[in-house]
Amino acid sequence: MTLKKIHEVLDGCCPDQKVQVRGWIYRKREGKDLIFLVLRDSTGIIQCTVKKTSPAWSEAQKLTIESSLSLEGTAREDKRAPGGYEISAENINIIGLAETFPIGKDKSEEFIRDMRHLWLRSRKMNLVMKVRDQVFESAREYFKSQYYTEVSPPMFISAAVEGGSTLFGLKYFDQQLYLTQSSQLYLEILMYSLEKVYCIAPSFRAEKSRTIRHLTEYWHMEGEWPFADMTDLMKFEEDLMTHICQSIGEKCEKEFAELGADINKLKTVKAPFPRITYKEAIERLKPKNPTLDWGTDLGYEDEKVLAEEFGKPFFVYDYPTEIKAFYCKTYSDHPEIAMSVDMMVPRIGEISTGGAREDNKDILIQRMKAQGLNPEDYEWYLDLRRYGTVPHVGFGMGVERLIVWMLDLDNIIDAISFPRTTRRFYP
Ligand code: 4AD
Ligand code: MG
Repeated sequence: MTLKKIHEVLDGCCPDQKVQVRGWIYRKREGKDLIFLVLRDSTGIIQCTVKKTSPAWSEAQKLTIESSLSLEGTAREDKRAPGGYEISAENINIIGLAETFPIGKDKSEEFIRDMRHLWLRSRKMNLVMKVRDQVFESAREYFKSQYYTEVSPPMFISAAVEGGSTLFGLKYFDQQLYLTQSSQLYLEILMYSLEKVYCIAPSFRAEKSRTIRHLTEYWHMEGEWPFADMTDLMKFEEDLMTHICQSIGEKCEKEFAELGADINKLKTVKAPFPRITYKEAIERLKPKNPTLDWGTDLGYEDEKVLAEEFGKPFFVYDYPTEIKAFYCKTYSDHPEIAMSVDMMVPRIGEISTGGAREDNKDILIQRMKAQGLNPEDYEWYLDLRRYGTVPHVGFGMGVERLIVWMLDLDNIIDAISFPRTTRRFYP
């Protein structure tokens, strides 16, 4: 008798052999002479049958949904069983008999969200979390292959990165601190030591928008490196995105198939990506949105319209300086234009923002003042321009936005195990 994971049995490891599997009851159907159990473990679900004549019958009768158990039986190929294999049970050892499980077929979306701690056991969430794990691994793989060093910036910070309106403040002993909105400024510090740096870390936004693309706590994949310009930046971002999509396309076939998501969309992602300037974006959108003039930020709806036209990832670059953060570098002959670039994808719009950083201390101070920021709060940041300033670029991509797009999920809250939104923070 060998202990097996369910996927091994489904992969045909041991037809007509005795196996032991351990897991939880996913579904149960009871007939007069036969009980059908669907057992789940981390790797999959498998149908098990218990005959009335089997010594496992009385234990099988007691089993409730989500009870944990160890089951022994004979694995058999059976075309009618979901997955092509089933186990006919000969012995069942109940480990933890579950009380009546609150999540059933008829429960509302709202109820399921309140039961997040239990809903994470569902096939859907299990599969999404596995794809997410692979996204992290593939991203790290690409950064590493390009000799980037992974760093760990702080989450408690003393000054805003992305403007005050989405900043979470908190009492830190008797001081006012904030939760970081982006690790960018810290990556800029570390870049002077390690050159190519990246991190995958949480970012926080006091974001009231209730859309399929906003969380208050999300995972942010950010990179920063010196001696580089906008061309280098877009090339790196599209190569990173291509690598992640190709790698998921290769490694997550099963997960996509079970989730009913289209994996071919990822397999066709290849650099280079189309690029248009913000000015061209406005011209394209103007017939559909006459209120859109040069200087207005693109809204979610505008981005969706643009993305629909491309049908795949693309870049919009050279935004108006006025709508961009203080650190964005501007063109010396066109100070009204900032070297800033967004990557967009269908249905979601923006999934990353990046750009060249202002490396001139005096211009940086002017930009801070123009945005009502106090340069004294950013003394350490200004030091980076005082001591060996260097042209540099960086970007940040929202991991959950990437996953929502990849898997075509209805909502960003399903791209993360414990979503934080205006209304949700339990458990
Ligand atoms: O566009 P953002 O605000 O840019 C920055 O934070 C830069 N400092 C990044 C950098 O250059 N290092 O945020 C970057 C990305 C967005 O494109 C989006 O994908 C994601 O972070 N994002 C969110 N994801 C989920 N929920 C939210 N509320 C998000 N806000 C931003
Ligand atoms: Mg942005």
